[in-house]
Amino acid sequence: MSDLREQPDPRALLEWYDRHARDMPWRVGPVQKQQGVRPDPYRVWMSEIMLQQTTVAAVKSYFDAFTSRWPTVSDLAQADDADVMAAWAGLGYYARARNLLKCARVVHQDYDGVFPDTYDGLIALPGIGPYTAAAISSIAFDLPETVLDGNVERVMARVYDEHTPLPAAKPILMRYASALTPDTRPGCYAQAVMDLGATICTPRNPACGLCPWRTSCAAWAAGTAKDLPKKSPKKRKPTRLGIAYIARRIDGAVLLEQRPETGLLGGMLGWPGSDWTDAPEDAPPIKAEWQTLPAEARHTFTHFHLKLTVKTALVPMDRTPLRGHFVDADVFDPNDLPTVMRKAYALTRTQ
Ligand code: ADE
Repeated sequence: MSDLREQPDPRALLEWYDRHARDMPWRVGPVQKQQGVRPDPYRVWMSEIMLQQTTVAAVKSYFDAFTSRWPTVSDLAQADDADVMAAWAGLGYYARARNLLKCARVVHQDYDGVFPDTYDGLIALPGIGPYTAAAISSIAFDLPETVLDGNVERVMARVYDEHTPLPAAKPILMRYASALTPDTRPGCYAQAVMDLGATICTPRNPACGLCPWRTSCAAWAAGTAKDLPKKSPKKRKPTRLGIAYIARRIDGAVLLEQRPETGLLGGMLGWPGSDWTDAPEDAPPIKAEWQTLPAEARHTFTHFHLKLTVKTALVPMDRTPLRGHFVDADVFDPNDLPTVMRKAYALTRTQ
C-alpha cells in the first residue's frame, strides 16, 4: 500500500451509515440511537448467534418468532429444550441452539437476567466466542471492540489491497480493522462496516462509485477490488450415504427419534436412521415391510454431502419400535425437523 494515500476515515463511514443504515428487526438505527434509545443486549445477542453462517434474510423470521415467544432472556431460560430446538429447526448449525439455551440459563441464574456489559464477561458465556463478544460489546454497549466477520474481512482486504489469501489473512485483516475502530460511536461503526460490505463492497461487482471510502481504498486505486479477498482453495467435500426410516402407524402417528446431544443435528428430532458413512448398515427401527423410495434426499453439511436413501413402512398399531417413539399425527409438524429430515419427509409426499 502506498504510504501517501489518506487513511480511511471512520467519520466518513458513519456519515454514510447515518443516511443508508439497513433497517433490521434487532437494530437500533442511528436516528433512534441519537434520541438515546439503547439496544437490548438480549436482542443483539440473539441476532448475532442467529447470523453466524446464516443470511440476514433467513434469520429475520426466526428472530421475530423467538423474540415474540420469549421476549426476555429469562423467558428463554425457562423454555423447554424441545420447544427451543423445534423453533430453531431449519436454521441449521444446531449447536447454536443448544448453546443459546445454556447461555440464557447462565445469564438468568448467575446474572439475574442481565447480560454482562464487558467483553471479558461476555466471552465467558456459553456459545460466545471472540466475534460474538466483540459484536455484543460494540453494538449493545458501545465499547470500541473490533468486529471481524466475512463482510468486514472483504472491506479490509480491499481498503488495504491485501492479497494474502484467507484464512491466513485473518490476523492481518484484524489488525487493520482494529486500527480503524473509533472510540466515538463504535456500535454504529461496527454495523456500518458490515452494511458497507453487504450493500456496496459486495463480493462480485462492488459499487465503488457509491463508496464513502473510495478515495482511500488501495484496491480501488489498483483496480483489484473485485479480485479480493483472495481465498485458499477449498477442500473437496466427500459424499456420505445414509438410510432414513419413515414409519407411519395406521392411525397416522409417525416414528421419530431425538438425536444424541452431541454430534451433527445434536438434540434435534429426526427419522431414525443409519450412521452416515461410506456403507450404511440397513437396520430398521421397527419390524415392518419396508419400501425404498426411488429418489434420494440430498443435503450438504459443512464437511460433506449426504445422499439419504428413504425407506417407508406402514405399521400395525400393536408393534413396538426398537428405537424412537411414535408422535401422534395431530402433534407432528414437519417444520419441527431439521432441513435434511424435512427433505426426506417431502419425498414420501411426492411419490
Ligand atoms: N451480520 C452479523 N451481524 C450483523 C449485524 N449486526 N448487522 C448486519 N449484519 C450482520
